[in-house]
Amino acid sequence: MKKLIRQYEPNPPLPPGEGRGEGASRTRFPFPPRSRFPLPLIVLSVALLGCHTDMYDQPRYEALEKSDFFKDGRASRPLVAGTVQYQAPPADDVMHTGKQNGQLATELPVTLTPALLERGHERFNIYCSVCHGRTGTGDGMIVQRGYRQPPTFHSDRLRGAPVGHFFDVMTNGFGAMPSYSLQVPVEDRWAIAAYIRALQLSQYAAVDQIPDDVKQQLKSTQTTDHPDARE
Ligand code: HEC
Repeated sequence: MKKLIRQYEPNPPLPPGEGRGEGASRTRFPFPPRSRFPLPLIVLSVALLGCHTDMYDQPRYEALEKSDFFKDGRASRPLVAGTVQYQAPPADDVMHTGKQNGQLATELPVTLTPALLERGHERFNIYCSVCHGRTGTGDGMIVQRGYRQPPTFHSDRLRGAPVGHFFDVMTNGFGAMPSYSLQVPVEDRWAIAAYIRALQLSQYAAVDQIPDDVKQQLKSTQTTDHPDARE
């Protein structure tokens, strides 16, 4: 205790002429000579404390902050006429909702072309086949590794579902299946929906739905020794 008190006693003034050079006669900084707290460090910490407030409250306006600079008293400026909204909310039409007058669309809102089906085929294989399998039976690789099995697309229920249902499932998700609206843009969702229809027909089509030339082709390739070929 005694030592401590002595340590913090102010230094006795130095006799004139002693000390370091010219300034020796000036009053010395009243810190004990054995102090381990160097002056530059104190200055630095004070300076840093000051910095904190500056960075925290920077000389700029927050959104919608008050300002005396502009006549209307607002820091945020009104939008320039003709500004187009970034990421505008999806339009309320059948193309973007899959629904017409609140009912799931029964027809594609885009033109059905071989290119559309090809695109749907490619996108389906990328985004859907991992779970639904390449033919839509629901035995994709992730399912084989333990993910919940989706229903087959080749059921009466899904064969009879309006095409808008497939768009809706991709857009909003369905039960355990997440939405794919971020990965698959609107046009591609319709391409996939069209391709799912093609997949369904590939596994189950009434004879009168088959074009005549394809029917002839099927007949010529039919082998009678296959069990399915028996009448
Ligand atoms: C990660 C796995 C997974 C992926 C990828 C996936 N699905 Fe699914 N899907 C499921 C599961 C699981 C279900 C069943 C959900 C339930 O019934 O809860 C399902 C259900 C469905 C259904 C049936 C809805 C009904 O009426 O029963 C459709 C249609 C469908 N998915 C379409 C798609 C399409 C199109 C894609 C690609 C854009 C896709 N899915 C990608 C897992 C997946």
